[in-house]
Parts: sequence; C-alpha cells; structure tokens
Amino acid sequence: MAIRKVGVIGCGLMGSGIAQVSAQAGFPTLVREVSANALEKGLGSIRRFLQAGVDKGKLAAPEMEKTLANLTGTTELSALAACDLVIEAATENLALKRELFSSLDSLCAPQAILASNTSSLSITEMAAFTKRPARVVGLHFFNPVPLMKLVEVVRTVNTDAEALADANAWVAAIGKTAVNCGDSTGFVVNRLLIPYMLDAVRVFEQGLASRDDIDNAMRLGCGYPMGPLLLGDYVGLDTTYYISEIMFDEFKEPRFAAPPLLKRMVLAGRHGRKTGRGFYDWSTNPPS
Ligand code: CAA
Repeated sequence: MAIRKVGVIGCGLMGSGIAQVSAQAGFPTLVREVSANALEKGLGSIRRFLQAGVDKGKLAAPEMEKTLANLTGTTELSALAACDLVIEAATENLALKRELFSSLDSLCAPQAILASNTSSLSITEMAAFTKRPARVVGLHFFNPVPLMKLVEVVRTVNTDAEALADANAWVAAIGKTAVNCGDSTGFVVNRLLIPYMLDAVRVFEQGLASRDDIDNAMRLGCGYPMGPLLLGDYVGLDTTYYISEIMFDEFKEPRFAAPPLLKRMVLAGRHGRKTGRGFYDWSTNPPS
C-alpha cells in the first residue's frame, strides 16, 4: 500500500520535527495537538527552523513555502481518519497511548499503518490496543529530527511483512536511513546510548573529572558531536531519567539504573535546555 497522506500526533519537539520532514518530502501531512496554543507553538518552531534554513542558504525559499503548504494543523483526532500512516509522538504515557491507539484504530482505514515514536515503551503493547496488530510498527526518530538521519523501524512479532516494507519505503522517501530491529525496550540506539549517558553522570558524580573535561573527552577523544552531559541537557534530563527507569524496570541491570544525581537534578527542575538549566546554563548562547 502506497503511503500518500500522513498524520502526526503531537507537535512538540519530536512531533513537529516528524511533521516537518514528512511535509518537506512532499507528503500532505496533518499534525494534531490537544490545544490551539500548543499547535501554534509547534508550527511556529517548524516555521523558525525552515526560515533559519533559508537564511543559512540550506533551503530554497520556494521549498519552505512548499513544505508549509503540505502541512496542516488540527486539534481534532478525527481529522486524521484519511491518513495512510499515523505516527504518534505524544507524551510517553501508556494510558494516553492506549486511548490514542484505540481511537485511531476505529477512525482510520483497516490498511492504514499506526506507528509510535516512543523511545522506550512497548510497541507490542500499543499494537494490542488495536484490532490491527499486523499494521502497527515503531518509527523512532532522533532529536533534532530534521538533521538526524536515522529512523529505527521497529517490528513486533505480529507486524506483517507488507506493513514493514511500507514503513521502510516511507522512511527512505523522507530521506532518512532505516535501521530495522525487534521490539525490545530502548531498541538499538537507547540500549547503547542510555548506559553511556548514565555512566557520564556517574563519572561526574564521583568527581573523576569536571563537566567540561568529561564532555571534551568524548568530543575530542572519540569525535562525538557533543559530549554526554551536554547531550543529556539537549535530550532532556527528565527524558533521560524516564527512559532509564523504564529500561531498568525491563532488564533489571545496574547499567540502566539512574544515578542519584540525575534523579535529584530532575526533582530540582534542572531538565536541561527545556528548563534553561541542567548541567549547563542555557540562557547563554552557546550554553555555558
Ligand atoms: N535548516 C537546514 N539545515 C540546517 C539548519 C536548518 N534550520 N540548521 C542547521 N542545519 C545544518 C547546518 O547547516 C549543518 O550543515 P553542514 O554540516 O552541511 O554544514 C548541520 O545542519 C549541522 O548544524 P549546525 O552546524 O548548526 O550545528 P552543529 O554542527 O553544532 O550540530 C547537532 C548540531 C546536529 C545537534 C550536533 O551537535 C549533533 O549531532 N549532536 C548529537 C545529537 C544526538 O546525538 N541526537 C540524538 C539524541 S538521542 C534521541 O534523540 C533519541 C532518544 O530516544 C533519547
């Protein structure tokens, strides 16, 4: 089944990026938020990113116009009924996903693919909220979505080969590279990335090296674009903590256990870039 029309649930950090790359690749894309305010905030961030691309000479102005013309915002879930692919990028809350997946299941055509951008919840469990488990996949994007080339395409034991092929073809059509994997908590990237980020917090917590020395070590010693503490701030320390909790719960391995400092930073509201303060102070540019 060819994917023509795409729906995205959630226009936050990830949803707005997914909606943008879909529209930019020429797919009529509907993005749904819960309120007009949240929708305007998300669409505003897409416009700003595209405008920055034009200003930097990375994007032709007509391409920006074309992208925006392919993009429609809505606050109604029912507006997504005619979509061939719907990607859920809402808050990581299983009760909410249950509500969304069962509603989408009744709204959308039986052949439509329902996908989740979850980074740590089970795709199999979400598929079980529908009567079409064979047409449910994970499509896990990376932040910042317009710049990161990877999408993890996640299959469950029930996903059929045609849905998987359609999902892979769509990922290629939006110019991303797919990595296919089974439905295991954290998939491939977070299985490797989360213990690394938690270890960086442990190294800092134990006083082995300063924040800047830890980040410089990995940036300059291994060629990573960002050090692990800056990346934690960038992804969100609350998100990192939340993912680690789910992974620890699943695998019961100490390497997924959040260090006490991470928990306390989250409790203190130091979530990184999104709250202005984490390991870095984000009120300055670049963060200091
Ligand atoms: N439009 C078009 N292109 C743009 C653009 C825009 N608005 N803004 C930037 N770009 C281009 C730049 O021109 C540049 O292109 P060239 O390489 O051709 O010059 C490129 O994108 C990089 O942009 P910048 O130079 O502005 O930024 P940077 O070099 O400092 O890189 C970064 C920024 C891409 C975020 C980089 O630091 C990076 O890759 N960091 C790591 C991010 C990462 O690991 N993300 C994954 C997080 S984990 C996750 O998301 C999953 C999860 O479940 C937790």
